[in-house]
Amino acid sequence: IYLSIYLCISPVQPPPLIKGWIPYIGKALEFGKDAHKFLEEYKKKHGDIFTVLIAGKYMTFIMNPLMYPNIIKRGKQLDFHEFSNQVAPRTFGYPPVFSSKFPGMPDQIKRSFHLLQGDNLTPLSKSMMGNLLLVFKQDHLDKRQMEDSGEGGWRTDSMCEFCSKVMFEATFLTLYGKPASKRRHSSMETLREDFIEFDKKFPLLIARIPIWLLGRTKAIREKLINYFLPQRVSCWSNTSQFITRRVDPSSCAHHFAILWASVGNTIPATFWAMYHLVSHPEALEAVRQEIHKVLNVHVFTLKQLFTWRQTHTPVESAVNESLRHSSSSMNIRVAQEDFSLPLEAEQSVAVRKGDIITLYPRSMHMDPEIYDQPEMYRYDRFVQDGRQKTDFYKDGQRLKYYCMPFGSGATMCPGRYFAINEIKQFLFLLLLHFDLQLVEGQPKVTLDTSRAGLGILLPAKDVRFRYRLHSCCPTE
Ligand code: HEM
Repeated sequence: IYLSIYLCISPVQPPPLIKGWIPYIGKALEFGKDAHKFLEEYKKKHGDIFTVLIAGKYMTFIMNPLMYPNIIKRGKQLDFHEFSNQVAPRTFGYPPVFSSKFPGMPDQIKRSFHLLQGDNLTPLSKSMMGNLLLVFKQDHLDKRQMEDSGEGGWRTDSMCEFCSKVMFEATFLTLYGKPASKRRHSSMETLREDFIEFDKKFPLLIARIPIWLLGRTKAIREKLINYFLPQRVSCWSNTSQFITRRVDPSSCAHHFAILWASVGNTIPATFWAMYHLVSHPEALEAVRQEIHKVLNVHVFTLKQLFTWRQTHTPVESAVNESLRHSSSSMNIRVAQEDFSLPLEAEQSVAVRKGDIITLYPRSMHMDPEIYDQPEMYRYDRFVQDGRQKTDFYKDGQRLKYYCMPFGSGATMCPGRYFAINEIKQFLFLLLLHFDLQLVEGQPKVTLDTSRAGLGILLPAKDVRFRYRLHSCCPTE
C-alpha cells in the first residue's frame, strides 16, 4: 500500500523495464526483427515511456511526440555524439575523434558541416545537377539506343538498382570529384557493389557484432577504405569543399564513413520518392506539370533549376511524404549527468548518467491521430492552400515536431538540404525526360523492416519499371 501511494505521488519514477529472459541480449532479437511492431506493442502495454534491454544497453523509449521538445532542447545533457563516437569508429574502422588524442577535431568537423548548407549549397547543387545530367545522358538518354531497344522505345529496369546506380555515381562525383583525365571513374560499379555488400552487414556492425564474425565484411571494408588512399584522392579534381577542407586522422576511413552517410539513406529515399510517384498517376502528373511550369514561367534551363528553392510545391510535399513513409531513424541520446527529465505536466523521469534516451519518430509518422490513414501515400499531405502545411495535432495540441527523417536538435543531419535537393533534381530530370510505368502484375512493394531504427528503409524486394524518352524531351 505504501509503495503504491509512493508511486502515485512521487513525480520522479523509473519507467517500466522490459528485460526479456536472455541475459545481456535482452530483447535484441525481437527488436531487430521488426522494431516498429515491437515498440508499438510495448507502447500499448506500458504507455509512452518504457526501458528495454537491447544487447547490453538499457534504452528508454519516449513514444509520445508531445514530449519530444523536452528532450530535443536538452542537447547538452542528452548528447548524440557519445553514442555515435562509440559506434561509428567501430563500424567504419577509424579511431574515435572525440578523444584527447585529437584536440579540436570535433569543432573542425562541426565547422565542415556548414559547407553542405546555406550559400555553400548552391555550388554543390549546381555540381550535382551537372553530374546527374552526365550520368543520365551517357547511360539513359541516348536516343538511338532507346529506339533500338525495340518495344516502341521502352526499356525495362529494376527501380531500386536504377536509383542506386544514378545517385551513387552522381553523389560521388559531386562530393569527391572526377579522375584526372576522364569525366567518370571507371571503377564506380565495383565500388558500388562493394558498398552494397558492406551495407547489408551494417545493422550487425551497429549491433556490435564483431566484424571478424561477418565473413568477408572486413576485407570489403578494407577495399572500400583503400579506395580513398591519399595518392588516389589527390589526383581527383572538382572535389567539393566539404571534402577538401576536412583534415581527419586516418582520413581514408573517414572518407568512407562520409560516403556511407551521403548515399546510405539518399538511395532508398530516392527509390521511394520515385516508386510512389510512378505508382500514383495523379501525383506523377501534378509533379510533371509543376516542372514544366517552372521551366516555362521562369524560363529556366535545366542547369538553373538548382537555384529554385520553393518549399510549398507538390514536389517538396511528395518527397516529404515518401520520407514520412519510409523513414525509421531513431534519435539516440546519452545522458551526461544524473537529472530529472520533465516530460508532461507533473510527470518526470529519473535519468542517470549514461542512460540512453531514444526517440522513435516512425511511431509518430504512422500515428492515425496525426496523419489520417498513415499507410496511404498522399503526395499533397504537406501542402495546404498553396503553402507548406505545418500544423499537425496530437491530443488536440499542435506538434512542434511532426516529420523527423533527419534527426533532431543541434545534431540534425547536416546533409539534409543537399539530400532533399538531390532527390528533387533526380525526379525533375526523370520526369522531364521519360514516360514511366510499373511493369504490370507485380505486388505492391513493402518495406524491409529488418533495418528499422537505422534510417530510410530499403524495399523488401525491387520492382521492375519501364521508361522511354518523352516526345519533347529537352537536353540543355
Ligand atoms: C547524420 C538522416 C543524407 C551527412 C544523420 C542523422 C540522421 C540522418 C537521422 C542522425 C541525426 C540525429 O540523430 O540527430 C539522413 C537522411 C538522408 C541523409 C534520411 C537522406 C535522405 C545525408 C547526406 C549527407 C549526410 C546527403 C552528406 C552529404 C550526415 C552526417 C551526419 C548525419 C555527416 C552526422 C552528423 C553529426 O555527427 O553531428 N543523417 N541523412 N546525410 N548525416 Fe545524414
